[in-house]
Amino acid sequence: MSNKLKGLLRTHHCAELNVKNIGQKVTICGWVNKYRNLGALHFIDLRDKYGVTQLGFEEFAGDLAVLKSFSLESVVMAEGTVRARPDNAQNKKMATGEVELVVEKIELMSRCDIDSLPFLPNGSVQSSEDLKLKYRYLDLRTKKLQDILKLRSVTAFKAREILIGHDFTEVETPILYKSTPEGARDYVVPSRVQPGKVYALPQSPQTLKQLLMIGGTDRYFQITKCFRDEDLRADRQPEFTQIDIEASFVTQETIKDLVRKLLISFFTLPEDFEIPMMSFAHAMKVYGSDKPDLRFGLEHSIVTDVFKECSFATFADVAKADGMIKAIFIPSELGSLPRKEIDKLTDVIKPYGGKGVAWFKVTDTTRSGGISKFVDDALYTSLTETAQRSGDGIWLFVADGSEDRVHACASALRLHLGSHLKLVQDGYRFVWIYDFPLFEWSEEDKRYAARHHPFTSPKIENMQKFMDGEELKTLTAEAYDIVCNGYELGGGSIRIHNSDVQRKMFETLGMSEEEAKYQFGFFMDALNYGTPPHGGLAFGLDRIVMLLAGTDNIRDVIAFPKTSSASDLMAQAPSIPAEAQLKELHMNWIK
Ligand code: AMO
Repeated sequence: MSNKLKGLLRTHHCAELNVKNIGQKVTICGWVNKYRNLGALHFIDLRDKYGVTQLGFEEFAGDLAVLKSFSLESVVMAEGTVRARPDNAQNKKMATGEVELVVEKIELMSRCDIDSLPFLPNGSVQSSEDLKLKYRYLDLRTKKLQDILKLRSVTAFKAREILIGHDFTEVETPILYKSTPEGARDYVVPSRVQPGKVYALPQSPQTLKQLLMIGGTDRYFQITKCFRDEDLRADRQPEFTQIDIEASFVTQETIKDLVRKLLISFFTLPEDFEIPMMSFAHAMKVYGSDKPDLRFGLEHSIVTDVFKECSFATFADVAKADGMIKAIFIPSELGSLPRKEIDKLTDVIKPYGGKGVAWFKVTDTTRSGGISKFVDDALYTSLTETAQRSGDGIWLFVADGSEDRVHACASALRLHLGSHLKLVQDGYRFVWIYDFPLFEWSEEDKRYAARHHPFTSPKIENMQKFMDGEELKTLTAEAYDIVCNGYELGGGSIRIHNSDVQRKMFETLGMSEEEAKYQFGFFMDALNYGTPPHGGLAFGLDRIVMLLAGTDNIRDVIAFPKTSSASDLMAQAPSIPAEAQLKELHMNWIK
């Protein structure tokens, strides 16, 4: 089937004309990107998402003065004949650089009010991100954003191609639904027809995809919006898109094989590409993070015991009080840190609760600076043996009573140093993180929370202990995350498919029987009526496209993104509802 559509206003787009078209009569449409008036000669560069074509006016029978009235960013339609540019005017870097369109007729289709135009999309003047978000449709005219939108669409297409090729069925699930806990707050929508009741927008279609398995769908996927009211970051939006997957009668190996195939397609990897595995415990020990960036070294060493008897009271106290001390060693061949840079490191860890970074240098085997006066030969030997690192360089240390804080600070420090010392290598470094803890203790709520979500199965070998409520802190889950370059691209698990286990899970999470019944009664009932063992995973599509596009800002990969305070600056959402609307929704607004 031809991929040409009928009834187009143009014969070609703005990147299409080349020497093969010389002599042809064509019509092209686009935005005025540039106008040059060289006295006798006039040129317009006409732009669309595909590229730019130069228009020349030597054969133009009309009044050339009209060109001046075509302000930049106006939309015009030009008709004429393609001809070769003179040799000295050719631009081999441009797709259309060897030709120009000699215009016979030009029509203004829509004038741009240049006096009020907030910024020129392809302009050299930097505009603020807020201004660009307010006029997002202007920013979308840039090649960068158009290329990313295309990349996103192609990635979603590849996902469909692979998944449908493996017999997965794309099924839509409701957006107006009930709370689906994924660890964030819900967005809620009040009901007009049922006074006082609300729908919750899904944080993910987790329960729904499991119900599809109970319903016999066998292999499901969906490219779907999820909604989470949580603190936003450079890789988080309040509404984002998942490639959500679930399958019956599978093991972790099945899901990992499918993910491998998807990644090969998305990232154009070799067919025999294999993803390394790393346990959660190892990732935390060595990188202080469950989403380690493996593009550089600077691994952590736990050196708590080395300092137990030392004369540096701060470290000795932490070590004796069962805290943790982590070291990072920067060998001198990887770079040096001047004193000024070392002093700045405290600011790097402050957001994670860190108080300071201790350090000392080794130059020609001599120790100096920072805490060197506390590091005698015996301690130094014990340090190099424990860390398995030695030689000239800088030792950095983070110590605290809370292990979590030490991991978080040392991870931030490593990422900062990797980037500061320019150690981050090109390419994609994927890794599976597995053997996650089933629970994490919430100090705030004084109860356990599910580390993944409450539908994740305990590891089979942990099942008895889980059912007996024993050693909950140490139990691991049938959960796995796929990580690349420091981003969690996706996460999933093998699920609980037994109602007694699911009931026990809700109980362990501190839910009363009534609460569990009210929230998830329908789901618990379903588990009683023949549930296949099942499991799955969800990719964050936005994050995959971020990596493919080489951007570290999630807003770049979303057509109409929100700010860090969850606003849409263009449409001014959220907005104040009309009194009548509130009344209809039976809501009393607190002003
Ligand atoms: P999880 O909560 O790990 O798992 O989410 C899966 C993936 O979705 C992406 N993601 C986000 N992307 C942008 N902004 C956000 N606010 C955001 N939150 C999550 C991440 C993440 O890895 N139902 C489970 C999946 C399962 O068990 O099958 C779930 O949603 O890339």
